[in-house]
Amino acid sequence: MEWLAGRDLLLDRAHVEPGMWVLDVGSGPGRLSLPAAARVGPAGRVVALDIQPSMIHKLNERIKERGVSNLETILGGIGEGKVPPAAFDRSLLVSVLGEIPDKTRALREIYTALKPGGILSITEVFPDPHYQTRTTVRKLAQAAGFSLVESFGNWLAFTMNFRKNEP
Ligand SMILES: C[S@@+](CC[C@H](N)C(=O)[O-])C[C@H]1O[C@@H](n2cnc3c(N)ncnc32)[C@H](O)[C@@H]1O
Repeated sequence: MEWLAGRDLLLDRAHVEPGMWVLDVGSGPGRLSLPAAARVGPAGRVVALDIQPSMIHKLNERIKERGVSNLETILGGIGEGKVPPAAFDRSLLVSVLGEIPDKTRALREIYTALKPGGILSITEVFPDPHYQTRTTVRKLAQAAGFSLVESFGNWLAFTMNFRKNEP
């Protein structure tokens, strides 16, 4: 995973910068949330959401061990109404989309959670059994209201950035 879609590469592709608010959907134990928190710094904030209690437990332990103060966790599924609206500059969705049963509802909630002009950065990596193709990702994101703005990589491992349009 690190070789195909390393954490620094994905944070660079998503243009995560100091001071930003970042929503990491399907964070797992924090492979991306922890370095994102370091990158956004004290003026920024990262919210990590995961549906599995064991993942959130592991991430909470890491947050405590490392004394991270700008990273909070939410236990729950995307689409369940647990994330605040119009709060985030960036959202990450890395090797998660294929695991979500109601993808349209999930992407609509991410759309609502982003500020106008905010970016959803979706990455899919082929060895993942739930891998989604670029065509599927584009169609789903566009149906939720997003516009495609950038694409990186190839079929084996790709990132697509989608923007929430300004009103
Ligand atoms: C393959 S892991 C990827 C973890 C992380 N994004 C990374 O790149 O290291 C997928 C994660 O998505 C979570 N997940 C699956 N469905 C979800 C949902 N509906 N809402 C939130 N998280 C979900 C899983 O619990 C799991 O931790």
